[in-house]
Amino acid sequence: MSKIPLTSEVFFPNLRLAARMMAFYLRSALFHHIILLFMSATTTIPTTNIVSANTTTVTLGTRTFTLDKEKAEAAFNAKRVINGKDTMFFNILPLKYTWAYDLYKTMKNNHWEPEDIPMQKDVEQWRSNEISDVERWIIKMGIGYFSAAEGIVGDNVLHVVREVVTAPELKLVLGRHAHEENIHADSLVYMISSLGLNPHECEAMFEDIPTITEKNHFVVSNSRAMRRDIDLTKTENKQSLAKNIFLFGQVMEGTQFYGLFGMILSLYRQNKFPGIGQMFRYTLRDESNHIEVFRNLLMDLVDENPDIWTEEFREDLRATMSEGIRLEKKFIRDCLPVASIGLNSSDFEEYIDYIADRRLISCGLAPLNESVSNPFPWLAEMMDIKKEQNFFEGRVTEYQKSSALGQIDDDDL
Ligand SMILES: [Fe+2]
Ligand SMILES: [Fe+2]
Repeated sequence: MSKIPLTSEVFFPNLRLAARMMAFYLRSALFHHIILLFMSATTTIPTTNIVSANTTTVTLGTRTFTLDKEKAEAAFNAKRVINGKDTMFFNILPLKYTWAYDLYKTMKNNHWEPEDIPMQKDVEQWRSNEISDVERWIIKMGIGYFSAAEGIVGDNVLHVVREVVTAPELKLVLGRHAHEENIHADSLVYMISSLGLNPHECEAMFEDIPTITEKNHFVVSNSRAMRRDIDLTKTENKQSLAKNIFLFGQVMEGTQFYGLFGMILSLYRQNKFPGIGQMFRYTLRDESNHIEVFRNLLMDLVDENPDIWTEEFREDLRATMSEGIRLEKKFIRDCLPVASIGLNSSDFEEYIDYIADRRLISCGLAPLNESVSNPFPWLAEMMDIKKEQNFFEGRVTEYQKSSALGQIDDDDL
């Protein structure tokens, strides 16, 4: 890794954001400037950095810090995704992984609580005859699968990834990530209790439905194998970690979650189960941040450890995605054994192929099904895709097929 000089770009390299803010400022009247600046203080992180001979003054939002220049430079250079300086302190400053702090703030601003969402209409519908058996089955599969899947993701964040990353701002955002999985798990408890479902029935689904068991074994076996005293100076172990990050971020949260998300939001679109649909929309907004956290983490890990990114390893990741797709398609066929109004399994299988390719491309990997198109363009309005679009504008470094990236916009998902 090349040594980076201690300039404003070191602490806050998001110059794109600064440029946009400046352009907007010039176009607006003074009154609007004041309003905008007031709002941005709560939603973005304007930063400045003044360097004198011995000190560096950092302004982060409304807060100002003065750092000893030499110590700050040393601390900055010691920060790594893995194998960085081992410190007892939570030294967020000086920031190296600015994206992690920015995402932490965004995630915090998205905070929601399940009990804030009314479930009365859902309960009425659940008890009525206006809901078909297939629709009822989709809700049960959604609650059954996610009840455990959220915990599996949070467990891996805390006991694998957060354990081995060394930069404090990365630990910060991963802590928030794990907390959001708790919120998601709690939202399912709220759904179960509101609808009056038998919790043991949900547990039984998790253990007795082979397609759910297979999906869970696929990720849990990887996560368990990582819990050992692992020497992360060895390339094969670094690759194991990179694969875990890809598996959980892009295959599980980024692809396998989207079959049920799509089905439940299809019901929501037909005014069925509005409370459950709203909770899944909030969950999806969180998931899009989680996917970005893990993608950035993977990309920075690879940037710092280029020995990971061999052709063989890249093919291994593509094969992992392929296996994830295979398991998800089997699961989708269980969720939709017969076509329901506006829902059939082949459309959802195609949707999974489409989503999976987006995940691969975003990590600089070649797609698996390049010709597939999105069968559900309306889902873009339901799913919080803006951030992904911003990500695509700013960051794909490895995959060179610019024509494929150019075709992707918010309306495509
Ligand atoms: Fe989640
Ligand atoms: Fe998540």
